[in-house]
Amino acid sequence: MSQELPKFLKEKNLIPSEGIEINPDLVLLGTETAFDFGVLVSEVEKSGKFPQIFKFHVGDTGPKTPQPIIDVAIKALQDKQTKYGHFAGYPQVRENIAKHWTETRGIEIKKENVMLQPGGKPAIEMAIQALVKPGDKVIGTSPGYPIYESLGRFYSQDNFIPWFVRKDDGGFEFKVEDFEKILEENTGVKLLVVNTPQNPTGMVFGKDMLERIAQLVKKYKFMVLFDDIYDRIIFDGREHFSFLSIPGMQDYTINLNGFSKNFAMTGWRMGFIIAPEWVIEIFGKFAINKYTCVTRFNQIVAGTIFGDVELDGFKYESVAEKIKPIIEADFVEYEKKGKFVENCFKLLQPYVVPNEAQGAFYLFPNFEKVLELSYVKNDLNLKNEKEFSKWLLTDRGVATLAGRDFGDGGIGYIRFSYAEDREKHIIPGMKHVLKTVIELIEKSGETSPLKVEEVDDRVGEIEKKYFI
Ligand SMILES: Cc1ncc(COP(=O)(O)O)c(C=O)c1O
Repeated sequence: MSQELPKFLKEKNLIPSEGIEINPDLVLLGTETAFDFGVLVSEVEKSGKFPQIFKFHVGDTGPKTPQPIIDVAIKALQDKQTKYGHFAGYPQVRENIAKHWTETRGIEIKKENVMLQPGGKPAIEMAIQALVKPGDKVIGTSPGYPIYESLGRFYSQDNFIPWFVRKDDGGFEFKVEDFEKILEENTGVKLLVVNTPQNPTGMVFGKDMLERIAQLVKKYKFMVLFDDIYDRIIFDGREHFSFLSIPGMQDYTINLNGFSKNFAMTGWRMGFIIAPEWVIEIFGKFAINKYTCVTRFNQIVAGTIFGDVELDGFKYESVAEKIKPIIEADFVEYEKKGKFVENCFKLLQPYVVPNEAQGAFYLFPNFEKVLELSYVKNDLNLKNEKEFSKWLLTDRGVATLAGRDFGDGGIGYIRFSYAEDREKHIIPGMKHVLKTVIELIEKSGETSPLKVEEVDDRVGEIEKKYFI
């Protein structure tokens, strides 16, 4: 029996046991390269080739979980809160989240609209599984968080339609007209995924744009997976605007949120959704079928992040006020680092064109002109940003992610995460990146807008502006 195997098996020379055929749709399953690339980063790190790897590839938070949150988990464990928990989240925990959502989204959310999940990610798969049958269509921005496209293609038999970013005039924008055209040209669209602040660009989708999408929901009727997992990491005094806040959209929205990014809790695996009750009922059935429940002591932790919790006679006080100054300081630091990285790249325009750091902890500068440099193309023989990103790691000790790993709309771009520590990675790393690009420009016989010997001073000025 011979069947086409997915690339991820072929690459590792792994072949299903004799006589066994696997699901052919597995060839459509993608991945989040941040994890695979992390293995390569560790290998290069261990090889000792560089005194240090500058880490701009991570999707993890730089800051660690605030201590008051850890203290609740320790107490809950000491209280032996270790049995099965509620499959959708204890009512009081859901009530606390509902209250916070009601206050921050300006609409009434009931605990029945809330469900705890083991991370933000499960909601992506569940939304698709609940709505999409083979042949139906899922739409997501390109570039976008890669799991939408990966699972979208897997469950729909390759019917994920990218809503491409427009790159006209050096600009960088998702146009609602382009999305509308997709709707006009396709039947069977079941789900749109919208993420703001966005991974990988750090872009924020404003009220206007979301309201225009809502008009299309009314006309064409489809569900929106609104992923605002970075909702508090938003810059320049912008207010996060929720799709749920648009009249009528509550019935059409599955709002994915969680604890990973806002509270620096990526490894705890905790997230939640806000959705219509019928969605919660379906997801609840999925939960029971897939993983039973979120870890019981984690449910208590989740609840105390928004309010008091009492379970089995044990009381756990809200940590909301205690963690506020800690997480707010983290958000300020992200903003400073974002502006710093953006302004460093501006020194290399037009070779590198950064977008504006608006939120999350990512920047997505355009590297097309660097890729066109004769030295890069002919001497280094790097054909695209994927090869360039790998070269940056293996030859220069800088870890980044290639734009195409976020969909074809990311071709020619590189994602720089600035989640890591400012002194150890971001400041020295940016100096190193700028010097590297200048070298490539000069070796190609072109004139760089900045000289290598100017880098330390010019970056120092930007450093003073944002950090001192
Ligand atoms: C946009 C976006 N959505 C969802 C997730 C998944 O979050 P979690 O780690 O809580 O599953 C991530 C993680 O990187 C993300 O960037």
